[in-house]
Amino acid sequence: MTDESRATNPKQRRQVPRPAEIFELMRFKAPELDATKRRLDAALTIDDLRTIAKRRTPRAAFDYTDGSAEQEISLARARQAFQDIEFHPQVLRPAEHVDTSTTVFGGPSALPFGIAPTGFTRLMQTQGELAGASAAGAAGIPFTLSTLGTTSIEDTKAANPTGRNWFQLYVMREREISYELTRRAAASGFDTLFFTVDTPVAGARLRDKRNGFSIPPQLTPGTIAGAIPRPWWWWDFLTTPKLQFASLQSTGGTVGELLNAAMDPTISLDDLTVIRDLWPGRLVIKGVQTVEDSHRLVDAGVDGIVLSNHGGRQLDRAPVPFHLLPDVVREVGRDTEIAIDTGIMSGADIVAAIALGARFTLIGRAYLYGLMAGGRAGVERTITILTDQITRTMQLLGVASLPELTPAHVTQLHRLTPRRRD
Ligand SMILES: Cc1cc2nc3c(=O)[nH]c(=O)nc-3n(C[C@H](O)[C@H](O)[C@H](O)COP(=O)(O)O)c2cc1C
Repeated sequence: MTDESRATNPKQRRQVPRPAEIFELMRFKAPELDATKRRLDAALTIDDLRTIAKRRTPRAAFDYTDGSAEQEISLARARQAFQDIEFHPQVLRPAEHVDTSTTVFGGPSALPFGIAPTGFTRLMQTQGELAGASAAGAAGIPFTLSTLGTTSIEDTKAANPTGRNWFQLYVMREREISYELTRRAAASGFDTLFFTVDTPVAGARLRDKRNGFSIPPQLTPGTIAGAIPRPWWWWDFLTTPKLQFASLQSTGGTVGELLNAAMDPTISLDDLTVIRDLWPGRLVIKGVQTVEDSHRLVDAGVDGIVLSNHGGRQLDRAPVPFHLLPDVVREVGRDTEIAIDTGIMSGADIVAAIALGARFTLIGRAYLYGLMAGGRAGVERTITILTDQITRTMQLLGVASLPELTPAHVTQLHRLTPRRRD
């Protein structure tokens, strides 16, 4: 051994381990006896909640939620787009206390996201919309009930009596059904109506076809085999009120077949005029996918737009809403409020969207993974995970409130660029 290596590897004097020192190192937490809490506390990300959800939910129900249309390219690209950003932190700016609150569509929200409308929600977990609405109310964020929901307008209001409830409208072939729902939502104090416009016909949800998934769910050899490892889901399903649409009559078939029977591919700007007259609150169009349409809708007098491709469940290879955002903000951002959804899996995604000019964001699957992982407590876990991620990202960026976020905080990196058309 050289003198030099002896100097860097000095011989340590060994001692007999002392019990007092060992006890000092021991930190045994009291075991968590509540299995749901134990399961949810172990989830640190929305992806972790997805893993738990997948384990606990029969395949057809999980796939109905997790899946999207055709080759599922739209959703994969939307999620990738959020990952393909670079943040630019600004240092030596105090951000000890972060204010995550905002206002959107004429009212407050404690956080820059709300819960998106989802159909057939009690299929995922029987608490369904009641869990979503009450957890949203407790967190001070808006909850959106779908036309294809499994809880009535009035029961949703009762679950979230003082918070903000929004209603999502499909204008259906039988217009009177849609008009009546609009009137009921207004009478129950819902303050904002989302008119969804990206469903002239249903997208091809191939996982549903392959799983033989139908509404109402059928007991087939496949579903019975899927039940065996998830007895608690089936127990819950069979001992709670029947799963059905709260506002529609269902006649059997896949969700796609039901959508095709109910939707009207001839809806147009004329329908917007009728709804405008019926609805006293804010009117927002959900499913906008081009700059041109944003202009058309602002000219038609809407109060807001949601850039969305329906979580990739309609047109596959549709524009990525997050890519569209900067252009739409530049063109119509001064005239209307712009919200965005599709692909949000982290609070950092939300911060990036706000920095690029979105007023608000919506979460679909992130909420449903939480619901499937643990009912209302699972939805609360989703909200907590996203809140922590938003707060931490803002602090690391040196930002103490949402209005301080600007496009200078984010660069969208290019993975796919259009070929030049000469
Ligand atoms: C299971 C499921 C059901 C949905 N049902 C509806 C619906 O009834 N009406 C609607 O406008 N959007 C519906 N959506 C789309 C969501 O409102 C939202 O646009 C989408 O989930 C956002 O993408 P994300 O899941 O990546 O957050 C649904 C989405 C999912 C995952």
